[in-house]
Amino acid sequence: SSEEQMYRPNFHFSPQKGWMNDPNGLFYLNGTYHLFFQHTPFQSVPDFGKMHWGHAISKDLVKWEELTPAIAYDEKGAIFSGSAVVDTDNTSGFGDGKNVPVVAIFTYNDMKKEKAGEIDAQSQAIAYSLDNGKTWTKYSNNPVLKNPGIKDFRDPKVFWDAKRKQWVMGLAAQDRQHFYGSKNLKDWTFLSEFGKDVGGHGGVWECPDLFPIKVEGTNEEKWVLIVNINPGGPNGGSAAQYFVGDFDGKTFKMDDVFTKQLQKEKVAWLDWGRDNYASVSFDNVPDNKRVIIGWMSNWDYADKVPTSAWRGSATIPREIQLVKKGNDYTLVNNPVKEINKYVSKTIKVKNIKGKGKLSIPEAGKIDLTQAIINFNLKNLKQETYTFTLSNAAGESLDFGINNSDHYLFLDRTKSGKTDFSEKFAPKITKAPLEGNQKEAAFKIILDKTSIEIFYNNGEKVITEIFFSNQPFTELSVSLNQETELNNLVINQLNIN
Ligand code: FRU
Repeated sequence: SSEEQMYRPNFHFSPQKGWMNDPNGLFYLNGTYHLFFQHTPFQSVPDFGKMHWGHAISKDLVKWEELTPAIAYDEKGAIFSGSAVVDTDNTSGFGDGKNVPVVAIFTYNDMKKEKAGEIDAQSQAIAYSLDNGKTWTKYSNNPVLKNPGIKDFRDPKVFWDAKRKQWVMGLAAQDRQHFYGSKNLKDWTFLSEFGKDVGGHGGVWECPDLFPIKVEGTNEEKWVLIVNINPGGPNGGSAAQYFVGDFDGKTFKMDDVFTKQLQKEKVAWLDWGRDNYASVSFDNVPDNKRVIIGWMSNWDYADKVPTSAWRGSATIPREIQLVKKGNDYTLVNNPVKEINKYVSKTIKVKNIKGKGKLSIPEAGKIDLTQAIINFNLKNLKQETYTFTLSNAAGESLDFGINNSDHYLFLDRTKSGKTDFSEKFAPKITKAPLEGNQKEAAFKIILDKTSIEIFYNNGEKVITEIFFSNQPFTELSVSLNQETELNNLVINQLNIN
């Protein structure tokens, strides 16, 4: 159909039909990455409803194959977000001596209780798989963690704490994180709470993720806590923040340096765009790689986006690194390298210098609905540099850097269909930059309905979706006399 042609992403995962929101149960095992996701496979309209865990697999995090839904809604409730772990030592006892059990930990959302306004509608439950994640059996004694009297009590993310030989679960408790510990994934004990008076509190602290990570280029290990928050994002609605600190098996404590950093920044945002939510990481990835993937939408308008067979997609998976520069930590995000194997054609553009709006005709030779664009700007002045993707319908997507007021921006207000929700494009999206930039490096990932901007090797990210009435086919840039546009490389992707 024309909807498929226009809006079905070329390489970002989207379900064949039905609604999708958060990625769930991310794990890697025996050469395969598993992506589960909040899904309503059996509704004629792709809306939020009786949630299941949908399922897709990939060998390389780029090309996904959708399988049948993995964990279905039942009489105990909707299957809300959660995680999965590879239980190598069979601590759960679910193993059969032949296959490694994979255990999924999710939230039951009891819709009857929710409707009746009862506070304890959400509890944590488990299911296991003995065939590498293909089929799942719910544990007969669910829930494994009852509701302690907190209305928003959900999204368990579990990891193996090797030092203490325990499983640790972080989960949303209103606008705080609670941590629980377990030896067998079945019996859980409260460990601690985190979040009072730190970070953003504009909404519920959903979909957390705590993990150890090396400070890039050192042997020092820190712990990063990702906390998704809705609403209260930097440009409206849903977004993800993070904290850097230490975890002693019981308590997550912010690092002193990071505490100071937050006094300046208030909140450390993982992504400044409006469409990267519920980002969490894969369990059991080899070589200590930390790979995250998010839902590429926003609760502000997710149920109104103009597709009718399916709604929602995932971001490009990103590898993250913790970088310490001076006295600041940054959780750097970059698209997984596997994407580069799908480059089918590369155009290198001569360095550009000039004044005014300059078109880049080379971009016209590339299908910009599956492309990666890299470039550097040098000798930046205190001006605004705008890149414009446009089409014959007069629609455009503008992005760039405002070097007088110091921010990156993305403007989708003229990008095509925007009026399906007044919250979709009320204004441009901004990400603050510290002071005058002399140089800037951009990596842009384009699909039919999304743009992902990785600035300065992933120091700042803006992810957003758009719905143009025709594909964007042209690229131009506004420069001043002295500025140089260097190393402009346009890569065609071909992911079929
Ligand atoms: C986040 C969220 C989670 C919840 C799920 C329900 O987007 O609200 O907190 O578990 O979606 O689909």
